Amino acid sequence: MRELRSRDVRSSWIILAQPAAHLIKHFELAPEVLVICSPWEEFQANDIRDAEETFRKEVRVDPGFALVVTHDNSAETRLRPVVPDHRRYLFVRDEELRTAQDPQMFLHRLLRDALSGRHLFDLRNPATGPQFFGRERTLEGLERDLVGGHSLGVFGLRKVGKTSLLRRLAAKFREVERDAMRVLPVEVDLLEIPFNRRDIAGAAALIDRNLQHELERAKITLPGTPMTAYDRLVAVVEFVHSKFGARVTLMLDEYEALLGGKLPLRDGIELLDWLRGIAQSHPNAFNLVLAGRNSRRLAPARIEGLDNPMHRFLRSVPVSGLEPEECRTMIRKIGGRMALRFTPEALDVMVCETGGHPGLVRTLGDLVDQQVPVADRSPATVDAALVSRLLPRFSRQVDEDMRELVNASNDFSQEAIHYLTHTAHSLPWIGGRIEASIHDALVGYGILERGRTAFRIGHFGTWLRENYETPVRASHG
Ligand SMILES: Nc1ncnc2c1ncn2[C@@H]1O[C@H](COP(=O)(O)OP(=O)(O)OP(=O)(O)O)[C@@H](O)[C@H]1O
Ligand SMILES: [Mg+2]
Repeated sequence: MRELRSRDVRSSWIILAQPAAHLIKHFELAPEVLVICSPWEEFQANDIRDAEETFRKEVRVDPGFALVVTHDNSAETRLRPVVPDHRRYLFVRDEELRTAQDPQMFLHRLLRDALSGRHLFDLRNPATGPQFFGRERTLEGLERDLVGGHSLGVFGLRKVGKTSLLRRLAAKFREVERDAMRVLPVEVDLLEIPFNRRDIAGAAALIDRNLQHELERAKITLPGTPMTAYDRLVAVVEFVHSKFGARVTLMLDEYEALLGGKLPLRDGIELLDWLRGIAQSHPNAFNLVLAGRNSRRLAPARIEGLDNPMHRFLRSVPVSGLEPEECRTMIRKIGGRMALRFTPEALDVMVCETGGHPGLVRTLGDLVDQQVPVADRSPATVDAALVSRLLPRFSRQVDEDMRELVNASNDFSQEAIHYLTHTAHSLPWIGGRIEASIHDALVGYGILERGRTAFRIGHFGTWLRENYETPVRASHG
């Protein structure tokens, strides 16, 4: 047991305890768990802040949860807003622990109920910290491209993990010491433009607010005070470059908002035009990442009569599902933390049905979690038969997502759905140049397998067979 006492004498004790071997095995825990003991009447938000700081520094600590032993009855309810959503804080009354007949047993039950009952697959928000899996190669590629000065378009299906990926990338850039900084990432979710400021000034103000947050986080103070949001971005770009030799990377998530989705088209185009200008005048100091569902809105040279500033400007990075091995690891680890053991065959079914699309994987994983009672997890084995039995329910749950896949495919080309129904019904399609480009797009977005005409998201093939009739004859594209 290691004890870390924080600076402030009024704060609680933070203890890193080694759990018993059977607990580690049962819940796939790391070698140490974090325990906060609070002798005070009131458990405080500061205690959680200190614990989070410890999680950041100590790599041997299990990131999934913290055990809080406190006298404060209302701590759990009161502090709910400050507890991070990717970590469980388990509150135990000190008296309860003291008076338990068998404290070992008490803790085991507490952990079993709390950890198994966490519903870790059911995460609707972007995945961060221990909830994020895989994407190593994509992250390396993105990093290389950005440091090399490219501006990027990150495109992928709904819920495939674009925002999670950008967050992870930004977090990686922030990990290094300020003086070794190569990239200062500024993340912006364009859906946050307030509804009463849907114009270029509103978008610029949002970018400016996030830029200032990032400066604070990196403890960078600008010399001088630029008058406008526009001046400030340029001033920061120049300062960060001259002082640290680093660049500013502006990540605009949900780029569609700019092209008629939220702002008047003219304003969105003007903003992008301005940003492209900065990138071109500061090639070593600024670049741009746009993320969205697909590149269709950005591809043409002109958009509704206006010159498109992003035409041939962005390097396109399609995001598909997790690689099979990454996906298996994700399911095994998340399951393991809730005392669910997936057999290799069960993992095969899950990878095959979802193509590693993290939103779909989580939906199916959550159905498994709901199916296995907590009391049976000592731990519980999940086999292929169990997963297969849940597929009809999965099918109902993802019906809307499958429709979205059809829409996404139609976005590439109106012909895509014919190509897909032929593939689903195993009918030959006499291809040509257009068909080859549809095929490539469907592969890039992780709908079809690379190198053969088969569905990567297996469930989508089944769904098409059930929802679209067999084409009467083979088409000639
Ligand atoms: N690398 C990952 N590991 C584990 N889970 C992930 C990963 N990426 C995404 N997810 C999960 O998938 C879901 C979708 O993630 P995210 O919001 O990042 O996708 P998105 O592509 O930005 O979605 P949208 O199209 O709605 O903007 C979330 O539940 C998230 O937790
Ligand atoms: Mg997103």
